[in-house]
Amino acid sequence: MDRRSLFISLGAAAVVAGLSACSSGTQTTGDPGAGSSDEQNASSKPGGAGGDVGVFTWWADGSEKLGLEALQGVFKSEFPNDTFVNLAVAGGAGSNAKAKLAADLANNNPPDSFQGHAGAELLDYISKGQIVAVNDIIDALGGTGVFPESLLSKLTVKESIYSVPSNIHRANVVWTNTQLLAKAKITDTPANIAAWIADMDKLRSAGVATPLAVSGSWTQVQLLETVLLSDLGTEAYTGLFSGETTWDGPEVTKAVDNFGKLLSYANKASDGDDWPVATDMVIDGKAAYNVMGDWAVAQFADKKKEEGKDWGWFPVPGTDGTFDFLADSFTLPKGAKNPGGAKDWLTLVGGAAGQKAFSLAKGSIPARIDVPADEFPAYQQKAMESFKSDKIASSIAHGAAVNQAWLSDITTAVSKFYGGKDAAALIKDLTAAAEKNRG
Ligand code: GAL
Repeated sequence: MDRRSLFISLGAAAVVAGLSACSSGTQTTGDPGAGSSDEQNASSKPGGAGGDVGVFTWWADGSEKLGLEALQGVFKSEFPNDTFVNLAVAGGAGSNAKAKLAADLANNNPPDSFQGHAGAELLDYISKGQIVAVNDIIDALGGTGVFPESLLSKLTVKESIYSVPSNIHRANVVWTNTQLLAKAKITDTPANIAAWIADMDKLRSAGVATPLAVSGSWTQVQLLETVLLSDLGTEAYTGLFSGETTWDGPEVTKAVDNFGKLLSYANKASDGDDWPVATDMVIDGKAAYNVMGDWAVAQFADKKKEEGKDWGWFPVPGTDGTFDFLADSFTLPKGAKNPGGAKDWLTLVGGAAGQKAFSLAKGSIPARIDVPADEFPAYQQKAMESFKSDKIASSIAHGAAVNQAWLSDITTAVSKFYGGKDAAALIKDLTAAAEKNRG
């Protein structure tokens, strides 16, 4: 398989033009059911196919579990014959789940459906023949009449669509503690990383020992990706994945320098710390800022914190006007034990009722364009607007921009940098990772 062209089709090139969530068009054409067996194409029966439906995610704890439970609730009422079996493995961003999933798939023991990110991450499963096309389900759900065409393009290889999107998250968000910013008399949103760092100095002067909260390695990768986006701009950032931008040029050097500076305002984290450790520091008034995907909104809600009074947000300085994108989606694994039940699940996660229930609980926005915005809280309404009008960039840490091997190399490099703060080594490692994995 030509990995370079797949990257272009799934990732970088598709996004820079600015995906429009409003785009609609004809129904998706393609190759309905390509690669799937007759059994796997069996339609759901009324009330569902029946039997156990094993669903693999990493939404095992806290606010993420609440999101999965919201989906489960709608599944139960729409497909009462099916029994949801929760195969979640804890660890944000799939930090533990993906290894278990890879082993299960390699051992021909797939779940009935598993969570995967729209974009380059899917290549791993597609190229190994581990998932089958779901064009028939996407078409039945309404195709490009209800899903943004350019989102579907990130799930598509050679005309076949390989998963059903459930929701869209934004990665380039700074979450703030309102009281701590007031204490440091910070009223303006910083326009770039330098201005943000100046605010961190103000916080320190006002007695806030830890301006910025970070967690384990994948959250640091996400922080780095947003700093790259800020310092390179959307087009050059996107070029990092297509090969048009080098990883050892002056912009990346500047971003790595800023990344190191930001970490000097942060707490000490362990590799395995999960994202709530850092987000809770903002919630508990132990840190003023945390860069996290907007699943953080669900954490604020779970802890009964209110936007404005307790917390605020702004796009990572220098990235306003760009939506650093990731989408969760669900697959139909080859050899699923209950393909009919799996299709019921996919129909549910791609349907309007499931998407609304899930995003309300999870902090994301629906992938569908026909779920009314006014039923969502203020933050999510704003995210929906941004997704429609902003430039779109693909997240590194969450499978949109790079495949799993590349992400793993980037994560190792960032983890090494966290220990030694050797900027030259990080640039060398990131450059080598791109050369090795870009194909
Ligand atoms: C992402 C996933 C989100 C959220 C986050 C933290 O990879 O797409 O839905 O779960 O990880 O675990």
